[in-house]
Amino acid sequence: MATRDELLKYLKAQQGDWISGEALSRRMAVSRSAVWKQVSRLRQEGYVIRSSPNKGYALSEIPEMLLPGEIGEGLDTSVFGRQDIVYAGEMDSTNRKAGELAVKGAPEGTLVVAEKQTGGRGRMGRSWFSPSREGIYASLILRPRLPPHEAPRITLLTGVAVADALLAATPLKPAIKWPNDILVNGRKICGILTESSMEMDVVHYVVVGVGINVNTRVFPDELKEIATSVYLETGRVFDRVLLLRAFLKRFETYYDDFLGSGFGSVEKRWRELGVVLGKEVTVHMIDTTWSGRAMELDRDGALIIEEDNGARRRIYSGDIQIHEN
Ligand code: BTN
Repeated sequence: MATRDELLKYLKAQQGDWISGEALSRRMAVSRSAVWKQVSRLRQEGYVIRSSPNKGYALSEIPEMLLPGEIGEGLDTSVFGRQDIVYAGEMDSTNRKAGELAVKGAPEGTLVVAEKQTGGRGRMGRSWFSPSREGIYASLILRPRLPPHEAPRITLLTGVAVADALLAATPLKPAIKWPNDILVNGRKICGILTESSMEMDVVHYVVVGVGINVNTRVFPDELKEIATSVYLETGRVFDRVLLLRAFLKRFETYYDDFLGSGFGSVEKRWRELGVVLGKEVTVHMIDTTWSGRAMELDRDGALIIEEDNGARRRIYSGDIQIHEN
């Protein structure tokens, strides 16, 4: 274990109480000045550590940050987030970075996290509002052994995992709007962007990017009516690390289940959480618009719409507007 991590482990074990510099240097088998160096490093990262010549050191505050060490501690997964966690205070886009790493051969489970994105990507060429330390902006690299036509199911699966994590970790009642918008009280709280590389019969990698509005307080005018956050819905600040861990755990469980036993149980859950099937909808695509009844979810994740004249259309991507009866 690195000296920094070891020091943090001992400080946390004290639960806010003092531990002497001498005890630390003995346990870690390093000099007292090496302990001091690591204390300075942790302080720079945002940990608040008190020091006293007689008592030693005491950890009094853990930063509200998505630091890899904090995510990894207590993370109950086998692969997701167990490989490298690539972290930055600021990044253009975690999806772009994860794609770059995937091309270089990064293994399944590699996680890219940022406190802020300057070029966060959304679906259909849009951007994703990513203010500093308010949301979760995370991308995971997957290397599923799947026929390429089944890969879109991973996007649906991710939506189910986010919705279940929000249900477990917050008092909210999320719903899924096809394909993968997570809504609370009709407003979007999370968006998912999957980007993959595949050939005719093989998937090289899939990057699953998740943006969750956790403690976002103010949205720009154009998003005010359509977006929300856990904070805006509950009036409480939530621990982003806990929510990210809860998501990774559910994501891995559903993913293993899908690859091992098929899509049945994920699809069942998707249907329970979904709010589109059976509704009159208008689908806005980049170049056209269709209206009709949302009839079915197809095997490959497409939504089947029936128009008034009985014609059926398969929709692969678009924004759904639901017409409540
Ligand atoms: C959407 O438009 O609904 C999808 C939004 C996806 C945003 C996330 S934030 C983390 C990851 N990195 C990106 O650049 N985009 C995704």
